Amino acid sequence: MAQMEYDVLVIGSGAAGLTLALHLAAELRVAVLSKGQLSEGSTFWAQGGVAAVLDDSDTVDAHVQDTLIAGGGLCHEDAVRQIVGHSKEAIGWLVDQGVPFTRELREDGSEAEDFHLTREGGHSHRRIIHAADATGAAIFTTLLRRAQEHDNIELLEDRVAVDLITTHKLGLSGRRCLGAYVLNRRTGRVETFAARFTVLATGGASKVYLYSSNPDSASGDGIAMAWRAGCRVANMEFNQFHPTCLYHPKAKSFLITEALRGEGALLKLPDGSRFMPRFDKREELAPRDIVARAIDHEMKRLGLDCVYLDITHKPESFIRSHFPTVYERCLDFGIDITKEPIPVVPAAHYTCGGVIVDPQGLTDVQSLYAIGETSFTGLHGANRMASNSLLECIVYGRTAAQDILTKLGGTPMPTNLPRWDESQVTDSDEDVIISHNWDELRRFMWDYVGIVRTTKRLQRAKHRVDMLLAEIHEFYSNYRVSRDLLELRNLALVADLIIRSAIERKESRGLHYTLDYPAMLPTAQDTILLPPSADD
Ligand code: FAD
Ligand code: SIN
Repeated sequence: MAQMEYDVLVIGSGAAGLTLALHLAAELRVAVLSKGQLSEGSTFWAQGGVAAVLDDSDTVDAHVQDTLIAGGGLCHEDAVRQIVGHSKEAIGWLVDQGVPFTRELREDGSEAEDFHLTREGGHSHRRIIHAADATGAAIFTTLLRRAQEHDNIELLEDRVAVDLITTHKLGLSGRRCLGAYVLNRRTGRVETFAARFTVLATGGASKVYLYSSNPDSASGDGIAMAWRAGCRVANMEFNQFHPTCLYHPKAKSFLITEALRGEGALLKLPDGSRFMPRFDKREELAPRDIVARAIDHEMKRLGLDCVYLDITHKPESFIRSHFPTVYERCLDFGIDITKEPIPVVPAAHYTCGGVIVDPQGLTDVQSLYAIGETSFTGLHGANRMASNSLLECIVYGRTAAQDILTKLGGTPMPTNLPRWDESQVTDSDEDVIISHNWDELRRFMWDYVGIVRTTKRLQRAKHRVDMLLAEIHEFYSNYRVSRDLLELRNLALVADLIIRSAIERKESRGLHYTLDYPAMLPTAQDTILLPPSADD
C-alpha cells in the first residue's frame, strides 16, 4: 500500500490534538488519529473545568504562585508564567469556538453575562471556568464539531500508532521525525504515515495502575514512542492520585469532581467525623497529594475500604444544577448524593512527567512535537494543581501550531519511507499472556509504586518489570501487533520509567512520598532520564 502523506500527523484527538489541528487547518493538511473512537481520551471525561485568570479580583501572579506552591518547588516558573499568562486568551478562543461554559445566575434565575467560576484544591481564588460538571465533554464535542467542518482535517478512528519513523532509525543523517507506523484496526494492517511534522497528543499513562480515573486509552503510548525515538523524559515518578473516585464494585473509573469540595463537600470517616483538619490547614481544599495521602493514611489506619464525601448540607437544587453528571451517575448505583455521603477512594489520575519539550512544544527530535498530558513542559512540578491540565492542552496546542507554521519552508515531505515488515511474525495463539501481563503489571504498580513508597517495594517492582519487558519483547518480535499488545508494550516501558525515576529520587516531594526518605531535600531537581540510544 502507498504511504499516506499529510503535512501534519497528530496522534491523539483530545483537547491538545484538536486544538493544534484547528490552528493549522487553514493552511495545512492535517490527519488526527485516535486509537478507538475520537472521544477515547481523558478530555471527554474531564469534569471540574479549566483554571484561568478571569475574575477582576484575581491576578496572573496569584495563579502562578498557587501553581508553584502546589508543585512543591519543582515547577519551571517561566513555563508556568507562559501558560497562566495565556489563560484568558485560551478561554476566549474556546468561547469563540462555541464551548457552552456555565454562566452566573441572576436572582430571577436568568443567565448573567459573567461565567460562573468554581474553586478547587490549591487555588486561592475562584478561577475554574466549567460547563456544569461535564466540562471535558463540552470542550471535546465543540472542538470536534469545528474540526469536522474543516476539509483540511481528516479524523481517523481505530488507528493505533505503533512507532515513530525517524531518520536515525533508518540510518540516515540527522535526527528528524518523518511520520509513524500506524495499525489500522479495521483492516489489521500496519500503514505508513509520512508527515512533515508529527505531534504526540496521546494523553497520559495512568492506566499503568490498577485503579485509575482514566479511560483505557491512557497507556502512555506517546511517552513510550518518544523514548524509543530518542527523546528524554522527565519527572515520571510524579503520578497524581485523585483523592475521590467513586467506590462501588460496578463503577469503573468514575471520578467525583474536586469541585464538590470546592463548593463545600466534606471528607468523613464512617462514623461521620471529619479528618482533613488534622492533616492540613486548607482542610478539604489542600492540594491533591496531601488529600490523597490523608485518605490513604486513614484507610490503612482504620482498615477501611473507602472514606466518604458529604455534600448533603447543600440544597438539593444547588447540587443537582451544579453536579448533574455526578448526581445521575451515583443515582445509577443507588446513591442519592443529596441525601447520603458518597463512598470514595483515591485512584491514579494524571501523569505529571512526560516527554521533555521546549517552550514551543518541540521535543529533542526535529519535527516531532509533544503536547498535552504526554508532554513535560515544567508546568506541574511535583504535583499538578487542579484544572491546570486542560489549560496546558489549549495553550500548547496553539503554541506548537504557531511554531510549525514558522518552519514550513525548511521541512519537506518525506518520500519513499520503508513499509512495515511483517515477514517474520505470525498470528498470536497465546493472547492469555497479554491479559495476564496487563493485570500483573497494573497490580504491582499499585501495590509497590503507589501513594506511599519504599525503596524495597520499588526494587521489587523493578525486578518484576524487567522480567515483563523481556517477555513482552519476545512476544512483540514473534507475533502480529494488536492494540492490546501495543498498549502492554508501552505500559511496561512507562512503568519502568516511573520506577527508575522513583528510585532515583532520594527525598519525599509532592506526589512522590517514600518512607525511606521522608524529608524534602533543600534543592529541587527534575529527574531526567536519557534514552539508551535512538534506535533501541
Ligand atoms: P487525551 O484527551 O487523553 O487524548 C488522548 C488521545 O490520544 C485519544 O484520542 C487517544 O485515542 C489517542 N491515542 C493515545 N495513544 C494513541 C496511539 N498509540 N495511537 C493513536 N491514538 C492514540 N483536567 C483539567 O484541567 N480539568 C478537569 O476538570 C479535569 N478532569 C478530569 C477528569 C477525569 C475523569 C480525567 C481522567 C482527567 C481529568 N483532567 C482534568 C485531566 C485532563 O482531562 C487531561 O489531562 C487532558 O484531557 C488530556 O488531554 P490530551 O489531549 O493530552 O489527551
Ligand atoms: C476534577 O474535576 O476533580 C478533576 C480536575 C482535574 O483533574 O484537574
